[in-house]
Amino acid sequence: MLLIICTSILAYLLGSIPTAVWFSKYRYGMDIREHGSGNAGATNTFRVLGKKAGIFVMSIDILKGFTATSLAWVLDYSGMIAPYDEFWIYKMIFYKLIFGSLAIVGHIFPVFANFKGGKGVATLLGMMLAVHHTATLLCVGVFLIVLFAFRYVSLGSLLATLSFPLLLLSPRFRPEDPIVIVFGFLMFTIVALTHQKNIVRLLQGEESRANIRMRKRD
Ligand code: G3P
Repeated sequence: MLLIICTSILAYLLGSIPTAVWFSKYRYGMDIREHGSGNAGATNTFRVLGKKAGIFVMSIDILKGFTATSLAWVLDYSGMIAPYDEFWIYKMIFYKLIFGSLAIVGHIFPVFANFKGGKGVATLLGMMLAVHHTATLLCVGVFLIVLFAFRYVSLGSLLATLSFPLLLLSPRFRPEDPIVIVFGFLMFTIVALTHQKNIVRLLQGEESRANIRMRKRD
């Protein structure tokens, strides 16, 4: 039980690493939360500090979610989850989803940055990758199609997040997928809540569009 409590706290602390806040502060001497959309996430870092900074923040935020979710393996290696137990796969997926969710909560409410963090999408992407990489890659495809078609990152994030549980509803699902589907819809609800202002702006036609520059052919 103590190990579960310690790994849960670790998952939250991992998610709490405020990549965008620390990077903007120590590399650029400013607080990203006072610029652009005010969000401490990869999209706003792209917007305010450019491509390289955005890719760096996005990578670390994805890694946070992936690592926290993978903490379930610590429980497995410690022998807490009996390997020959018929419920092993269900317990593993459950702990993965719990630790990943705690990292997302940490990202949104980081203890290291006055509980004012990002919207959770990159960290969720890391969690999704650790749970079901095929469905995740399809969701990234959804995100890119929406982004290039409409140039709204927020709309892409919302639709890609929603696609995850919907894709798993396909008849080819694995036995553990019903648990993932429930968490997937829960995660979509959280992402929709963190994107409330974006949704209002999208509906009013006031959401800022991403500046995607396509290279011209010679
Ligand atoms: O992942 C966050 C993105 O969907 C929206 O970010 O900065 O445009 O509010 P932002």
